Amino acid sequence: MLRMEKRDKLRGTVSVPGDKSISHRAVMFGAVAQGMTQVDGFLPGADCLSTIQCFRQLGVNIQRVGPTSLHIEGRGWDGLTEPDTVLDVGNSGTTIRLMMGLLAGRPFHTIVTGDESIGRRPMDRVVQPLRLMGATLDGRSDASFTPLSIRGGGLKGISYQSPVASAQVKSCLLLAGLQAEGRTQVKEPSPSRDHTERMLNAFGVKVDQSPDGVSVEGGQVLQARDVQVPGDISSAAFLMVAALITPDSCVTIQHVGLNPTRTGILDILTKMGGDIQVAPTGEWCGEPVGDITVSYSALKGVEVSGEVIPRLIDEIPVLAVAATQAEGRTVIRDAAELKVKETDRIAMTAGELRKLGAQVEETDDGMIIEGKTALIGDQCDSHGDHRIGMAMAVAGLVAKGGVTVERPEAIDVSFPGFEAVFSRLS
Ligand code: S3P
Repeated sequence: MLRMEKRDKLRGTVSVPGDKSISHRAVMFGAVAQGMTQVDGFLPGADCLSTIQCFRQLGVNIQRVGPTSLHIEGRGWDGLTEPDTVLDVGNSGTTIRLMMGLLAGRPFHTIVTGDESIGRRPMDRVVQPLRLMGATLDGRSDASFTPLSIRGGGLKGISYQSPVASAQVKSCLLLAGLQAEGRTQVKEPSPSRDHTERMLNAFGVKVDQSPDGVSVEGGQVLQARDVQVPGDISSAAFLMVAALITPDSCVTIQHVGLNPTRTGILDILTKMGGDIQVAPTGEWCGEPVGDITVSYSALKGVEVSGEVIPRLIDEIPVLAVAATQAEGRTVIRDAAELKVKETDRIAMTAGELRKLGAQVEETDDGMIIEGKTALIGDQCDSHGDHRIGMAMAVAGLVAKGGVTVERPEAIDVSFPGFEAVFSRLS
């Protein structure tokens, strides 16, 4: 059980673990690049450790040379070899969907599976376009769900209009496209995070962006390079909301990734009246980085919808916590994707917040939250979802009597040391 007590103030300067999306990509791209990739600031959370394990099973030598440092010995696309057992991605959607793109281009057979939550998440969004490219995939419900079997090789480039704004789908197809004959182009309803495009560029690959989408020419080779991973803005979001809602707080979070496809949370919290100062400090491997300082603020309800949704999709559970402490109504729309994350995050966020007395109504594609509510502490459940567990812990900072979070081990998926960071803030 994790216990979060009501706090008078949060003050200090902290950093958060490395970005999850960038950490996964650093391992995968290093694994298929030519040469040695050194990664620093790697997130040693359960999801990224699953990626390391899968690529070791695919024959790649990956050494952990420090708590957050890796050496990856890439031997190009052909360095991947047929695994002699099933690859298990655990809880990680990014691992399975990106890896399927890589495996679809390899001339061998693989079986991939994951935990119970992965078993409920839609895989047809990557299976269908990979089949169009020529890969052979099978699994439950016509390969909509794990376990999945992949026989790769002989791909042809396609032009694909994705029905969802998803970086996992886009990245999967670009990684398959690099191994295909001809050009592969992906268009999405609104722009999703572009870490794949930036890191491929840094590894010497030409990625083209146009109004028709993002595309790559097949047959390109990745050249190894060192990667310094910035702090994860999705993890920083929990500290940002904590500081905004806890009276007398001022918290600085250092070296956070500020990629514009991820900063929707800064835009919305600022629109809610949050006092947020951003100080850019540089660029790491094509990713802008900076320090974020957040002070306690009187918040007001806002509407959150449209193109900003993919830019803050993972932050919506904690944004809902902020909305319970904002004057007026917050409406979140266009976020039906939340239903197919690690859990149904609309149902889980609304259900857990209502346990504390918050006024939250679930809708088909979001939530309506009426604030400001004085929360009353209770026992909440992570439901095995890291972001639900952390959002409820943050609610505990303002709930009378504090909050106890059941199944807190899920938090290790993206934010090992979460509790320790809060105890460092006086
Ligand atoms: C991710 C993409 C997003 C996000 C996930 C990480 C990535 O998922 O929610 O936590 O690293 O590409 P979708 O592609 O399903 O939107």
